[in-house]
Amino acid sequence: MMENERSADWAAYYQQLRDRPPRRTLLAALDRFDPLPSDPLALDLGCGDGRDVVELLRRGWRVIAVDAEPEALRQLAARKLPSADRITPVLARLEEVPLPLGVQLVNSSFAMPLCEPDAFRGLCARIREHLPASGRFSGQWYGKRDSWFGRPGMTFLDRNEARALLDGLELEMFEEEESDGVTPRGNAKHWHIYHIVARKPGP
Ligand SMILES: C[S@@+](CC[C@H](N)C(=O)[O-])C[C@H]1O[C@@H](n2cnc3c(N)ncnc32)[C@H](O)[C@@H]1O
Repeated sequence: MMENERSADWAAYYQQLRDRPPRRTLLAALDRFDPLPSDPLALDLGCGDGRDVVELLRRGWRVIAVDAEPEALRQLAARKLPSADRITPVLARLEEVPLPLGVQLVNSSFAMPLCEPDAFRGLCARIREHLPASGRFSGQWYGKRDSWFGRPGMTFLDRNEARALLDGLELEMFEEEESDGVTPRGNAKHWHIYHIVARKPGP
């Protein structure tokens, strides 16, 4: 697919999901930060037009919002959120972006599987290493019975592989979902998803 066709595709996706609430993995992770760390900082990898960023800001977090699509960050800016000064937008591939010191939450909703397997595994290792004690990861990965299994440039994991990539973290949520449905673009799809919230052990 040409670069501009792909951007147009994502633009339609953002438009369609515009008013959806934040992902429940994000909500579950945020609820567990009690008390809230001082000056809390989150990294949202593949933030899209900011479905999760809105909630992070609402709860007092600063957010480094990363997406490879200029249109995502344009639509995030167009929301004109009241606390937009707490967003640092970064146009980058999520598997290449540095994980800055001080990030207590790495959130990646429905975005990490859109990386090549080697890059995916490298990113997992970096998240495990860089999270501070009591820091968390939240997001979705795809299983091998997903209809998109085999698409180039994407990563699919069986349950054991997914668990192994989270080794050393405490699993606060690890839910495997299999369901038949439709994609936001209206195509029939079998979903095989792991919904994850994981915490680095610490005080
Ligand atoms: C399915 S959307 C999810 C958006 C948002 N996180 C949500 O939950 O609604 C995936 C997003 O990840 C971005 N994306 C896909 N692959 C990426 C990559 N390798 N690096 C950075 N962003 C990527 C896409 O541009 C898109 O905005």
